[in-house]
Amino acid sequence: MKKEITIAIDGFSSTGKSTIAKLIAKKYNFIYVDTGAMYRAVALFAMQNRYIGKNFVDANSLISKLKNISLSFQFNKEEGFAEMFLNKVNIEKEIRTLEVSQYVSQIATISEVRRKLVSEQQEMGKLGGIVMDGRDIGTVVFPHADLKLFMTASANKRALRRYEELIKKGDKVSYEEILFNVQERDRIDSTREDSPLIMASDAIEFDNSDMEIKEQFDAICVFINKLIL
Ligand code: DC
Repeated sequence: MKKEITIAIDGFSSTGKSTIAKLIAKKYNFIYVDTGAMYRAVALFAMQNRYIGKNFVDANSLISKLKNISLSFQFNKEEGFAEMFLNKVNIEKEIRTLEVSQYVSQIATISEVRRKLVSEQQEMGKLGGIVMDGRDIGTVVFPHADLKLFMTASANKRALRRYEELIKKGDKVSYEEILFNVQERDRIDSTREDSPLIMASDAIEFDNSDMEIKEQFDAICVFINKLIL
């Protein structure tokens, strides 16, 4: 029985990657790592220190302070998933705002940031039994992952999902600004020089524009069961 498998989930923003990853982690007792949260944590650090703001990015200052950034995940039993900590402070709520979403893709273009986070992610996945989601997991972080999934959905559907999520939390945002953010992040994430978002040649593509999560999860479990049973 082979249990210590590695599952890579990549795809555009708000395609339900984390929902699927959490379901997989729960059912198979795997560790779940949300790598987007790590990029968001670095973006928050950059915002707090004024290395990024409206119309400016001071990449050199951020790069020189990368060694001062310590990231960790801590499992929250009540929520059922791991929360992101930046230098021992729980920042799970702060990193989910539209403001962080507006800066994070720019931060993720910086190669030094990527190198730091990719090496931490590879360390976390060393023993397998892990499901990791992001943009470069199947291409860069774990090119030899046992199973690679690539999630897509129309920009309108994704923006609507993200909009409803933020409104539910009480954030004051408009659908139009969310749609703009989703499209802008797609553009930056897929055109950056270092590790752009592309589908690995051996990934399985799932378009969930018109598919329920449950339906998709059941299909994915068939692939996983073949690997572990
Ligand atoms: O998954 P997310 O929307 O929380 O990710 C936030 C941003 O971080 C996304 O726009 C691109 C970047 N990212 C990345 O470049 N590589 C990853 N492995 C994960 C996220």
